[in-house]
Amino acid sequence: MIMDNLTYRDGKLFCEDVPLEAIAKQVGTPFYLYSTTALKHNFQEFDSGFDGQDHLTCFAVKSCSNLAILQILGKMGSGADIVSGGELFRAMKAGIDPNKIIYSGVGKTKAELREALYGGILMFNIESPQELDRLQGVAEEIGATARVAFRINPDVDPKTHAYISTGLAKNKFGIPVDEALQEYLRARDMENIEIAGVSCHIGSQLTEISPFVEALQKLKEFITTLNDNGIGISYLDLGGGVGITYDDEKPPHPHDYAAAIRKELAGMDCTLILEPGRVITGNAGILVTRVQYTKVNSGGEKEKQFVVVDAAMNDLARPSLYGAYHKIVPVTEASEDQELVDIVGPICETGDFLAKDRMMPKVEQGDLLAVLSSGAYGFSMSSNYNSRPRVAEVLACNERFQVIRYREEYEDLLRGESLSVME
Ligand code: LLP
Repeated sequence: MIMDNLTYRDGKLFCEDVPLEAIAKQVGTPFYLYSTTALKHNFQEFDSGFDGQDHLTCFAVKSCSNLAILQILGKMGSGADIVSGGELFRAMKAGIDPNKIIYSGVGKTKAELREALYGGILMFNIESPQELDRLQGVAEEIGATARVAFRINPDVDPKTHAYISTGLAKNKFGIPVDEALQEYLRARDMENIEIAGVSCHIGSQLTEISPFVEALQKLKEFITTLNDNGIGISYLDLGGGVGITYDDEKPPHPHDYAAAIRKELAGMDCTLILEPGRVITGNAGILVTRVQYTKVNSGGEKEKQFVVVDAAMNDLARPSLYGAYHKIVPVTEASEDQELVDIVGPICETGDFLAKDRMMPKVEQGDLLAVLSSGAYGFSMSSNYNSRPRVAEVLACNERFQVIRYREEYEDLLRGESLSVME
């Protein structure tokens, strides 16, 4: 098995029991492909680590927002961690119980707050004093009560990529611990606010447990301070962030992560909330792309080989944006001959690559390649840059597959636009 539920059989790559070639033939390329079994397994494995502990797993919708996937997870009991009105809309459409939806993010608009209040979500994770005031105002307007937690910025180094580290004092997220008490005291006196919890999220793709524990310790200390001030809380939200293996990273097994958290929580009387994204979807999805051209540019100091594929940075932004590594394998096991190549897309930017200086079995025009570990922050970060229709999303289940988002057509690119009537 080269990834969850991805195997070669007689030299051909299968997801579950479906040959990738068959999907490419029917759906065209590029496409994202998810394994139902892997999704369910990853959710179950994560969630079961907390068996016996009062908890709620709220899948981070931003990591992979397809309706069908939200529905599968919702049916397994997952709640949703949302960060926009759009994500709220999706989560509700997918049938996720609003009472299991929590709303994070630094920039919630009035309209979004209103929609979430009408939706009856479980809790708002407040990230600034002004947001608290705004929420009180909106709740008053519609005669609702808003349950809140403040997102505490614990100033813990998650030891991950700078762009996805969120719990350091210099990051834009949350409220510093030493300013948080004041906000809880203000919230306590607000007519339409109910204090429900304390939350944090320190970063993403963490490969060590210790930063989580450190953050939790700081939260516990703060909860004691709250209690000393007569404020009790019902929910402790530890955010997401558990990493996965893209290359040779050794992230903690979800059960080891859970055990460390549970140990730290012993004796505490509150419901634990978790917001995992990547660890559920990352290794349950791939991006399949077809080689359009191979070329050699020999002008520079040394000859450079390029494999030009039909997927690009607009389809999978992670390599361009973070210099992220994704394994890439041929869909039909190829020759033993290896070559050093850059795998690039058709977009007119030098930063448009899926892999750089990568040793690959020799590939040829027309070959299919699978970009592994692309289930999280893959499609959900894709765009229409260079007026490229967004690709199809496909779900495999045993020997069957289903398109869960059709490939966009040119007309989709123009939706909402109009020709100018002014000269
Ligand atoms: N909760 C909050 C408040 C978050 O901001 C995030 C992710 C999560 C939960 C889920 O984190 P996870 O379990 O997936 O690590 N685009 C980047 C990752 C950005 C993460 C943003 N926040 C990437 O492709 O690596």
